[in-house]
Amino acid sequence: MKYGYYDNDNREYVITRPDTPTPWLNYLGDGGFSGIISNTAGGLVFDRDPGNFRITRYNFNRIPYDRPGRYLYFKDMGSGAVWSPTWQPVQAELDSYSCRHGMGYTRISSEKDGIQSEITYFIPEGKQYEIWKGTVKNTSATVKNLKLFSYVEFSCYIAKYDIECDWPRYFFDCRRKGNAIIFNPSDDFIREKRLLSYIATDLPIEGHDCARIEFLGTCRDESNPIAVERGVCGNSDINGDNACGSFCCPVSLAPGEEKSFVFTIGNACDEEEIKEQVASASDYPLVHEQLEELKAAWRKNSRYLQVKTPDEQMNTMLNIWHPYQCRMTFNWSRFISFYERGLDRGWGYRDSMQDVLGVVHSAPDKVKERLRTLMGIQKSDGNARTLYFPGTGESMGGGRSDDHIWTVFSVCTYVKETGDYGFLEELIPFIDGGEGTVLQHLKLGLEFTKHHLGEHGVPLFLGSDWNDSLSKISWDKHKAESAFVFFQAAHAAYELIHLFEHLKDTENTQWAKQYYEWCRSVEPVLWDGKWYLRGFTDYGEKYGTDDDEYNKIFLNPQSWAVLSRLPSAEKGNSCFENVKQYLFCDLGVVSHAPASSGIDFQKKYFFGMKTGIRENGGLFFHASTWAIIAETLLGRNEDAYSLYHRELPTVRNDRADVCKVEPYIYSSSMVGPSHERYGSGECSWLSGTASWMFLAASQYILGFRPDYDGVIIDPCVPLEWDGFSYTRIYRGISCTVQSPKLPVENARAKKIIVDGETLDSNFLPYDTIRGKQSVEIVVVY
Ligand code: GLC
Repeated sequence: MKYGYYDNDNREYVITRPDTPTPWLNYLGDGGFSGIISNTAGGLVFDRDPGNFRITRYNFNRIPYDRPGRYLYFKDMGSGAVWSPTWQPVQAELDSYSCRHGMGYTRISSEKDGIQSEITYFIPEGKQYEIWKGTVKNTSATVKNLKLFSYVEFSCYIAKYDIECDWPRYFFDCRRKGNAIIFNPSDDFIREKRLLSYIATDLPIEGHDCARIEFLGTCRDESNPIAVERGVCGNSDINGDNACGSFCCPVSLAPGEEKSFVFTIGNACDEEEIKEQVASASDYPLVHEQLEELKAAWRKNSRYLQVKTPDEQMNTMLNIWHPYQCRMTFNWSRFISFYERGLDRGWGYRDSMQDVLGVVHSAPDKVKERLRTLMGIQKSDGNARTLYFPGTGESMGGGRSDDHIWTVFSVCTYVKETGDYGFLEELIPFIDGGEGTVLQHLKLGLEFTKHHLGEHGVPLFLGSDWNDSLSKISWDKHKAESAFVFFQAAHAAYELIHLFEHLKDTENTQWAKQYYEWCRSVEPVLWDGKWYLRGFTDYGEKYGTDDDEYNKIFLNPQSWAVLSRLPSAEKGNSCFENVKQYLFCDLGVVSHAPASSGIDFQKKYFFGMKTGIRENGGLFFHASTWAIIAETLLGRNEDAYSLYHRELPTVRNDRADVCKVEPYIYSSSMVGPSHERYGSGECSWLSGTASWMFLAASQYILGFRPDYDGVIIDPCVPLEWDGFSYTRIYRGISCTVQSPKLPVENARAKKIIVDGETLDSNFLPYDTIRGKQSVEIVVVY
């Protein structure tokens, strides 16, 4: 069953009924003053950091779900009918409804009883406020006397206090000043320049309420506020208690008449700034211009890769939604969505390090800045702290086995994309004192791994490896060993050999080669005969082995082994034949099989999560991306593409009732076949899937892979494709790649023709195209 369709011309997803199985989300803002909004206007607003600077409240995982939000109520004073033009929270049946999630904005349109409305929500670039730009039109033959009520609930900035403690309620006042309701939390515990939050409107105001209890009434909720029922607000200003922002605005419409209005939510240093912001937000031509600018900025963001393949669903993702998700994931790491609550996660070191991979081609400067920030929380022993909070600069955690290794891929990918070799020599402080060059940070990370080995010579799990949910494996004796980290380190060493050779740095090349040779000497201990183990348990037993009944084969060690280039082709193919046999399913690939649930050290059960969910036997899309890349490296074109295609969000649009989550972006996982909710998506939007799937699709399937001082053109596509083309902007040059149909299955590029000239390999040297505006590349198989 469908809940909407893709309007690719307008770069929007159109939701045609409000009762989606989960709230279908969009992001507003670009990492500064920002918000999240559902298809029925639920969600919240925050400034940079939803943990420390949360402006409005949202109740995560409560019933009724998706409350509160940015609400409007319409009351027809003639008939007494009450409805919400966004369906929630009143849920009165509407005569028509649509929600268009676009790039950086959401527009909800509806009609009821001869009243048509359209509200566009967005945050102008670089501004400290969100705009609700609305129109309301009388389509009936009689005069309509309406009252519009607004409703948002204010949060006292520090979300943890606001949710967990009662006392913040007593520290602020909230009162109407002219056309704004201003929430003023005490600077007693909030150290913030922009202390005032507000909601304002340009509609005539008849009354207002700042006290939640006055507006909603006792024993009521957002669906049936007493003020709306009565048709008047109580003009409550408050000192302490729960605060809301409600205006009551009379609107009279002759037949056919349309009126425009604006509501604004923002934060400011003082009342003067609020006035200025509200004046700009009510300047209609300016608001129109700002919305157009926003759309243009997002169009530019996806211009870096535009594809024309025979797979329409792939085109929709890569041309529109996938780069958008990559950018939002880059902005928010795993901090805030409708699943991540914006409290404790901040920017994860490992998560954000991977997120940069999805935007390095479109926002290299932002990536460089992010790399600096993240490396700044690495310690001088090479290990990194786990979390960073962008609003306050605080960091915490550490002691995990994988965090610091991700830096190698991110830095190498950045240098390959930009040619900014100078960055490698830049000095970056360590969080515990001292400083080192970027290269030193990378090397220290790998040294740390080599200094923390278990009894089989494989890196220890420590706090956890990439798979947090497997961390119990080392909770008894702290001796468990991780094949994931081992292959990750080997892959990193492989990358560094390539980098140092390119830099003609003989000393470091030797260091990286020695490291890789050490990995080569350890690899056999992890081979289980047909595939690679997941590691060794706390008691030194093999884990992820054919000898066991449960948890026999894991996906990640097979993928990362291939990525490390340590295994022979024979071993790599054996791994993936078994992946195909045990882990493939019609919707994609599962994390491992057969999955077991519960903790039992004797039986080697280490997953608390229920069988078939997320990392425990679910389809964990982040991990699928590495399998796709591995398949391309093994030359298995058909399997690589078929797995990629099966997991596209766009292929599940007509199964949205089962899949539940948004069909225009990747969720982090989907429940696996061993579970009764097979196919149900979990935890949408913020996931390492975004960046790595973008790499898998653009660099490995479509085969545009920037390398040092040039690009490897190496598509890995199925035989059924009749040819394809794409345009990729690389260092400011628009590179158009054309490919004919493959001559035979699994064919790979042998040569390329660049602006009519045939090169004798598939490597495009940067020097040959430097200074050009565009180049035409034809792939020869
Ligand atoms: C989640 C976490 C990430 C972790 C992954 C696997 O995506 O955000 O840090 O690596 O799960 O456990």
